[in-house]
Amino acid sequence: MAPKTTEDPTQYKKTERLNELAFAFKNSAALLAAIELGVFSAISEGAATAEAIAARAGVDPEAADRLLIVCKALDLISEKGGRYENRPDVERYLVKSLPTYFGDYLVYQAGEGFGGGKSLVENLTGSNEEEKAKVGNHYKALMATPESARRFTTAGYNASISLAHRLAKRFDFSRFKLWLDWAGGSGCYSIAACERHPGLRTIVMDQPNVIKVTKEFVAKHGLEDRIDIRPGDFLETDYPKGCDLISFITPLQGYMPDQVIDILKRTYDALEPGGTGMVIDYMLNDDKTGPLDPALMNLGGVTHGRFMGRVNSGAEFTSYFEAAGFVDIEVSWLLEHQLGRVTGKKQAR
Ligand SMILES: C[S@@+](CC[C@H](N)C(=O)[O-])C[C@H]1O[C@@H](n2cnc3c(N)ncnc32)[C@H](O)[C@@H]1O
Repeated sequence: MAPKTTEDPTQYKKTERLNELAFAFKNSAALLAAIELGVFSAISEGAATAEAIAARAGVDPEAADRLLIVCKALDLISEKGGRYENRPDVERYLVKSLPTYFGDYLVYQAGEGFGGGKSLVENLTGSNEEEKAKVGNHYKALMATPESARRFTTAGYNASISLAHRLAKRFDFSRFKLWLDWAGGSGCYSIAACERHPGLRTIVMDQPNVIKVTKEFVAKHGLEDRIDIRPGDFLETDYPKGCDLISFITPLQGYMPDQVIDILKRTYDALEPGGTGMVIDYMLNDDKTGPLDPALMNLGGVTHGRFMGRVNSGAEFTSYFEAAGFVDIEVSWLLEHQLGRVTGKKQAR
């Protein structure tokens, strides 16, 4: 929530703003409960009364009614003539049976953020020595079992496929012959680009438990002959040769600047002469006044007093690309107020 810029001289003398900020977690909890209980799916499928929604959600009608009142107050649903209706964004993104559903992603991310609900103060001070000793790479832990990797990767597909199509429309992939999409997750960005650019071939690399799921998504889109899927770790594995585009789409906020520079150096060495390196990730303004979403992500990178990642500004990303040898570096927003896009070129010989 951006600070309010009203001329009201009493603005900073009242408690409303502080209450709103301190108790925002209640709004979040109500939304997530409604998603998990399938309230919006039930409404979309015709359960129009509190009783019918309660039966679908497996809760008492009085409890369902109270949740529905909050959903109305949050403008998630409306009531017309005694029947409930989802607001258009809720109908599009929070109905489980639709391909645009991304409620699982919201539930999952909300559970993960700021130490999985642990005190942020504990994370910032590192006062819990026992937990501090256990902290390791966030992405390694997330993908440690086939089940957790499937859950995260499927949620990631649903959350990112429309953005992947936006990138494929805006970024001219037809200039490239072979794109290495490091940390490609579900493969959604490669899928969208291959669907829109017939000459493109890609290699998607990610952790072993992830690529099992990637293979299924790529097969569903019938792109097995154009998207090659391989296991690997971008800090350890040799990068394949022959690629004229190498990208990192949203893994790097889980790494510190010295690691990002190391990754960009590996990228530069592996690229064909004249090739392009691309990073898409949470990005801060150069003056570090926000935006709020990347600022919160940056704060969430402090886990039990240890820095397990960092959100960078465009100027910082530019300096990392330069340190790795790239030229013609360009920075723009892919998703205003959240995700930046940075590209750099390897010198043509
Ligand atoms: C936020 S997801 C993004 C996935 C995909 N690029 C997308 O945007 O849908 C981050 C991905 O980075 C992968 N990842 C993180 N660290 C990695 C590493 N060291 N080597 C390979 N993959 C890594 C994770 O396994 C995960 O699939």
